[in-house]
Amino acid sequence: MAKPERTLFPREFFKEIDFRFRLRILFSRFLNESPRKSKRRVFELYHLTDDEIIAQLKEAYPQRQEESTDNRLKTSKGRFKKIAVKLGPIAADTYLDVGAGDGIFTLAVAQAWYIDHVFACDTTMYGGIETRIGRFYLSTPNDLLPHLPVPMDLISMIQVLHHARDPVALIQAAHQMLNPGGHLLIKEHDVSSPSMHQLITIEHALYHLIKEDDLDWHCDRPIEIKSQDEWQRLMEANGFTTVTLHKDDFEITNSFWGLFRKESCK
Ligand SMILES: C[S@@+](CC[C@H](N)C(=O)[O-])C[C@H]1O[C@@H](n2cnc3c(N)ncnc32)[C@H](O)[C@@H]1O
Repeated sequence: MAKPERTLFPREFFKEIDFRFRLRILFSRFLNESPRKSKRRVFELYHLTDDEIIAQLKEAYPQRQEESTDNRLKTSKGRFKKIAVKLGPIAADTYLDVGAGDGIFTLAVAQAWYIDHVFACDTTMYGGIETRIGRFYLSTPNDLLPHLPVPMDLISMIQVLHHARDPVALIQAAHQMLNPGGHLLIKEHDVSSPSMHQLITIEHALYHLIKEDDLDWHCDRPIEIKSQDEWQRLMEANGFTTVTLHKDDFEITNSFWGLFRKESCK
């Protein structure tokens, strides 16, 4: 009997070396296993169904060595320091990280740009964020941001906009909260091809399917993935000018960092 069609891991993309290579790195990072082991995994899964692949990953996931928060914090600081050099210096005294998660990148950004007054918000509260950041606010799932006591010089949305119900509402809310001349920093996927689109979908599905306790982080609804040009056009249509855009070489899902400035008058 013919095996059911695969929708999550469509076979057509396995002809692309680049797709197989990226999938292998994705598995290796997700399961914290050697690239060699992940290479074999990718090779073997060609003959399996979506359900069989997921079952295999679900079995392997709890056995991986979880990275400590201290280690993740150290890695994100090191990574963002390099990105900050590429983006250039910015002068900011107040900073809000929207969709901060557990605050790992909030601290990395604040430290790289020497920002004193740091705020964070998210629709969900993750363990440890209050002790790490201090000023944490809950924002609403329908993309409204909390009221803060002072206007912001910098707002970031790091891997957040593609999870938002209404990314335009979030961009506009950020624009309102920023001082004139203030900056918006984003990190997003740049969807450049159908296979890249699928790889990003797989990455999000892995978290959704395997870490079921973590639904908010990854896809309780379809993610909105766009190209870098589309994100840039969206920013510019909402009162921002582009300062600079930089590819994040660490990510295999084609991520880029974008720094935008609020025009003095819209
Ligand atoms: C992929 S995680 C990124 C977390 C963190 N920025 C990082 O890079 O480590 C996306 C985060 O965005 C949050 N989020 C999604 N929609 C949001 C919204 N409308 N307002 C605030 N946070 C939101 C989710 O709860 C989640 O914590």
